[in-house]
Amino acid sequence: MDHFLYRGGILHAEDVPLTEIAAAVGTPFYCYSTATLTRHFQLFQDALAGMDHLVCFAIKSLSNQAVLRTLGKLGAGMDVVSGGEYRRAQAAGVPGDRIVFSGVGKTRDEMAYALTHGIRQFNVESAEELRVLADVASCLGKTAPITLRVNPDVDAKTHEKIATGRKEDKFGVPIASARAIYAEAATLPGIEVVGIDVHIGSQLTDLAPFEAAFTKIADLTRELRADGHVIRRLDLGGGLGIPYTRSNETPPLPTEYGAMIRRVLGDLDVEIEIEPGRLIAGNAGILVASVIYLKQGEGRDFLILDAAMNDLIRPAMYGAHHDIIPVIEAQTASDQRPVDIVGPVCESGDTFARQRAMPPLAPGELVAFRSAGAYGAVMSSEYNTRPMIPEILVHEDQYAVIRPRPSFDDMINRDTVPPWL
Ligand code: LLP
Repeated sequence: MDHFLYRGGILHAEDVPLTEIAAAVGTPFYCYSTATLTRHFQLFQDALAGMDHLVCFAIKSLSNQAVLRTLGKLGAGMDVVSGGEYRRAQAAGVPGDRIVFSGVGKTRDEMAYALTHGIRQFNVESAEELRVLADVASCLGKTAPITLRVNPDVDAKTHEKIATGRKEDKFGVPIASARAIYAEAATLPGIEVVGIDVHIGSQLTDLAPFEAAFTKIADLTRELRADGHVIRRLDLGGGLGIPYTRSNETPPLPTEYGAMIRRVLGDLDVEIEIEPGRLIAGNAGILVASVIYLKQGEGRDFLILDAAMNDLIRPAMYGAHHDIIPVIEAQTASDQRPVDIVGPVCESGDTFARQRAMPPLAPGELVAFRSAGAYGAVMSSEYNTRPMIPEILVHEDQYAVIRPRPSFDDMINRDTVPPWL
């Protein structure tokens, strides 16, 4: 459920008509709903209620400071994967003891920065990284709390590019090597083992792969404890999928996910961390665009929008589906016609949907891409020298521009011309 609904025939974000925002800031723009962000965060809080837990928002999915501050104020932790994301969490006022640091390629500088400013734990992804972290922490006279990310060799049955828990994926250490690496960790200076981490992929629409992975983690917890390690925390990663179409998709609910966690891991007396991104942010955001042309092609018509693949890359990159709906509600369903919905970028990959049934839309009319909050703005670029589009946050009847549209000068003047030119 989200808070983008038609009222009086106009699509609203909470209590604000999107036509009003479009008139004020122009199109295209991203628009997020505070109520949906809050609701989705709360669903996880409720799902894990009664267990010692921390919900760490995966910043990579939507990293605007206003969003992070909204969630941080509700008590969320943050999952970061770079020094830049760490600084965003910091700038949003989230204390270090609520920040977990994931990622396969942490640099010494990133480690040192996090150790100096405070960190809940590093999710270490290799023996090589572990040794470097021990060295960095020792040089700083600090102790790095760590989990080891374990690769359980479970197929998440999701899109090839976002499955991360199979042995051929670059993530984590093979579960069979875990005991040896934990044994090494116990001997290293500057390292304190606190738990185990696992993340098998994103947009999972079935609980079975999660359960298979968590069962292996439960067994490993017992083994590691028998080896004498302190395993007091399990970080279960993110990955719970969302419905991208309104009709036929019913991914598991956070309550079902929470119940499964309780069943598989509840008797281990551990603190549970999860790192959801998409489920919190995905349906809390839309992208609003205008029609530039309805171009009549040979055998098919093209609806050409002012948004493009540089603004929302998911359809081009993963073949992802986003529902696209008119901001002014269609009067009848009967006059819908199939069109290819495309952007102005100079490649055929800049196609959002093929032969999608749409009501008649004239140039200047507005459409909204649903479920665009996660992996939307964060993956955008200035390809074709198209300015990054604004982000707007709505809260009841108020809205604020939380990232303005840069001017062309802002963009172009970031380049510097060398003296010989
Ligand atoms: N934790 C780790 C270690 C991750 O790598 C990810 C996502 C998450 C948590 C959050 O997963 P979520 O709950 O959002 O599924 N750009 C792709 C998705 C990439 C996901 C990368 N890792 C897309 O647009 O579908």
